[in-house]
Amino acid sequence: MHQVGGVVMNAKEKEVLYNKAHAEIKERLHHTTGIIPRMATVAAVLKNTLPYFFWCGFYFAEEDELVIGPYQGTSACANIAYSGVCGAAAKKEETVVVPDVHKFPGHIPCDDSSKSEIVVPVKDEEGRVIAVFDVDATEVNVFDAADKKFLEQIIPVVLEKE
Ligand code: SME
Repeated sequence: MHQVGGVVMNAKEKEVLYNKAHAEIKERLHHTTGIIPRMATVAAVLKNTLPYFFWCGFYFAEEDELVIGPYQGTSACANIAYSGVCGAAAKKEETVVVPDVHKFPGHIPCDDSSKSEIVVPVKDEEGRVIAVFDVDATEVNVFDAADKKFLEQIIPVVLEKE
């Protein structure tokens, strides 16, 4: 149970919103080809459905750095040299949940409003990390196991073929 923008949101309430977002994403992606259009749609639907998403978007895993992809929210850092929370998730090849970004060594502040964060890797068919999906919130302790579970279910849709 977390205070999110003054609203108490438990796992069940999050589930309702993620299911709504997932259904809309599936519907919108049905005839959407290309990874950029698909990522843009996923970021927009999630940002507009989950009220505590302050910023969300993708970074592509290039050889030497993470490079900004489709996103929703305030202007973000364009290049990240495999550091910060995004770099940690890409290198560990697993989701990283950060309850308080000020306590995460190496956190990269793109916007001082961000207080907590979750980063989910995007993996191709061979299991290689080709991108990460990053979400920021303006309060601490916002993201939990429910966000991890639902985002890990939804995010792979960007690579599915229709
Ligand atoms: N805070 C991230 C950088 C990306 S922005 O939050 C959009 C990090 O530490 O990797």
